[in-house]
Amino acid sequence: MSGDVARAKGAAALAAATRVPRGATVALGTGSTATLAIRALAERYPDGGGLATVASSRATEKLAHDLGLPVRSLEEGDSFDLMIDGADEVTPRLELTKGGGGALFREKLLARLARELVIVVDSSKLVPRVGSRVPIPVEIIPFARPTLLPTLRADGFGPVLRADTQGQPFLTDNGNEVLDLTPAKPVSSAARLEERLRRLPGVVESGLFVGLASRVLVGFPDGSVQERLPPSAAVVPT
Ligand code: A5P
Repeated sequence: MSGDVARAKGAAALAAATRVPRGATVALGTGSTATLAIRALAERYPDGGGLATVASSRATEKLAHDLGLPVRSLEEGDSFDLMIDGADEVTPRLELTKGGGGALFREKLLARLARELVIVVDSSKLVPRVGSRVPIPVEIIPFARPTLLPTLRADGFGPVLRADTQGQPFLTDNGNEVLDLTPAKPVSSAARLEERLRRLPGVVESGLFVGLASRVLVGFPDGSVQERLPPSAAVVPT
């Protein structure tokens, strides 16, 4: 990571951590920017701040635990005041591509339980549409891979099975595999694509997050942070 990117991520992460009030329930994201936010949160509340946190991955759970943040498993009836997480892509409508770290399922599950999803990114993550900077990940049941690969190929998604550092299929914390999709054509509607992918038997979740982000904090190399809000809800004629 270049110094510029690190500074930008750090600025966004710090801005997010300073928004977390004492006693809040917080869902913790995964990835390098979320890690910086979790570190900033631990520095802000060396006594734990009365926070209750739930992590979106084993890696984040260990990090939070090692930093002394109160972290526990997801419990029945849980909801969160906010979730802080990173993203691989952010569009002007605040549609996101996530899952570069493979934690997309748990991230999306927790995001849906959060009253506010605060996304922290550096400015390189801003894109005109999803799928323009990185492939779009889908978490799949390994048993379904032989049927999903030809279907996704035929549909022009160029699926690639994600591999780990040993060259073996990468496995998520849920024991599933990840296919990275590179659409042959620009994605005109992230919402439609998310829906289409979700309907394929064997797809557990896609890395497209549509209508979930409450705000995006964008860090820049000079240390400044801009806040992006979702476009105001369309007025539905009555
Ligand atoms: C983890 O599965 C992802 O969704 C991350 O949030 C995303 O990949 C962003 O990661 P970085 O903050 O490391 O760029």
